[in-house]
Amino acid sequence: MATATETIDPYLGAAQIAARIAELGRTISEVGAGPAPLVVVCVLKGSFMFFADLVRHIDLPTNLVFLGVSSYGGATESSGAVRLTHDLTLDIRDRDVLIVEDIVDTGLTMSYLLDILRARGPRSLRVCTLLHKPARKRIDVQLDHVGFTIDDVFVVGYGLDYDERYRNVPYIGVMRFG
Ligand code: IMP
Repeated sequence: MATATETIDPYLGAAQIAARIAELGRTISEVGAGPAPLVVVCVLKGSFMFFADLVRHIDLPTNLVFLGVSSYGGATESSGAVRLTHDLTLDIRDRDVLIVEDIVDTGLTMSYLLDILRARGPRSLRVCTLLHKPARKRIDVQLDHVGFTIDDVFVVGYGLDYDERYRNVPYIGVMRFG
């Protein structure tokens, strides 16, 4: 999968990820939701695989929706500039909403998402991220459910990319350059 100058070192295996997601799904189901279905937001593109696996472990009525954001232009450093590339197709006013993200790194993307979704008046707004990289935090954000806290490494696979590649790798690996 890797090119001559890029290698991927296994970091979190597929079975380990699957087991943790089953736990996250159980916890989210226990928290529950109000009278209307839980609105589960897939943050594209990175969380598509995590989202697909997680929702199968959420034992609640749900509405599944998609939100596109772009914060990286092929580099491994966050620019801090977040762009909405696809908006929700559902009104979340008075609804219980769960944002599903692949990774929280500096926190800038999640902070932006929380701001724009909170402004729409949801009944509750919670966050589930598969990965959290606290070493590079630039802003404090609310994280209700965290799959794995990871080291300060650039990871790919299981939906995460480097320059739009490696999203289909079935495990999470650390990207090594050169
Ligand atoms: P933040 O705004 O710095 O928290 O970064 C959030 C976004 O940056 C994530 O949704 C990812 O798309 C991307 N990102 C951050 N760290 C990594 C990484 O280690 N691998 C791949 N993408 C990453």
